Amino acid sequence: MSQKHKVIVSAPLPADLREKVAARCEIIEVPVGQSPAESVPAALRPQVAGMVCTMRTLVDQALLDAFPALAVSSNFAVGFDNVDVAAATRRKVLICNTPGVLDGAVADVTIGLMLCLARNLVAGDAFVRSGAWTKGAFPLTTDIRGKTLGLLGMGRIGRVVARAAQAFDMKVVYHNRRQDPAAQGLATYVGRDELFAMSDVLSIHIPLSAETRHSVGKRELGLMKPTAYLINTARGPVVDEAALIEALRAGAIAGAGLDVMEQEPLPPSSPLCELPNVVLQAHVGSATHETRRAMIDLAVANLLDALDKRKPQAMVNPEVWEARA
Ligand code: DGY
Repeated sequence: MSQKHKVIVSAPLPADLREKVAARCEIIEVPVGQSPAESVPAALRPQVAGMVCTMRTLVDQALLDAFPALAVSSNFAVGFDNVDVAAATRRKVLICNTPGVLDGAVADVTIGLMLCLARNLVAGDAFVRSGAWTKGAFPLTTDIRGKTLGLLGMGRIGRVVARAAQAFDMKVVYHNRRQDPAAQGLATYVGRDELFAMSDVLSIHIPLSAETRHSVGKRELGLMKPTAYLINTARGPVVDEAALIEALRAGAIAGAGLDVMEQEPLPPSSPLCELPNVVLQAHVGSATHETRRAMIDLAVANLLDALDKRKPQAMVNPEVWEARA
């Protein structure tokens, strides 16, 4: 009988990593987005010790019940709003994620959206392609130099965005649950309402949780300047999308750059697709070859470390690890 751990793989594994995992574990393949509880035969479920999965796998009480021997679930993402962390912790299931390796890529998309909005770059492309340029000049746009960038959330990604914004001579302010000593020299701490009121560009860098769901809504949007832009590269449901659409239609804010939405993939029937003052991306903050490779490397290392009883590099509920030790 095989002594190998049985692990669910529900994430895109490059061939060399697949070999590495297969050398030590028996892989049970679950297509990305499919429920492991439905895909894995009942007889195998009590033997599954580990899982590596994307944000599309719900690690909830039902999954934990279906896999009673699960010791570690490793997210191929820094976010873990797909996981019921409290339930996993109660069941002593270690949850791992991929912080640190995607900060630059997500910050790049944030800065890209800011430039697209202020300089109207997406419309400018259509202007040239359609021949409109032959009939007149493109309308003037807005400088970001000298403007105020407000960061809601000052974690790893927020700090990289703050550093990048300095190259554009922007004044950077931020709001966090508490002041961050690592932000000193990069950004000035302000109150939450003040952040919304004073920012020319407001960029969201907080995780999705029960507390943050719809935490940017009608009230917050109402505090913003009519010339201000909202950028979200964090999680769609942090913003009350209906309130945002209303604010964009009414001209209460100048525009929005969204890499994330409440429903993904965004249906083309969404009013967001109709609004000319919105730039949309398909949740691609971390989607570069280099960054996704670094993420899957870390997700697999976390999985194998946990199974081999070595301390994983990135744990969401380290108390589970400490209790085991
Ligand atoms: C993350 O890592 O949380 C990203 O949003 C996934 O693309």
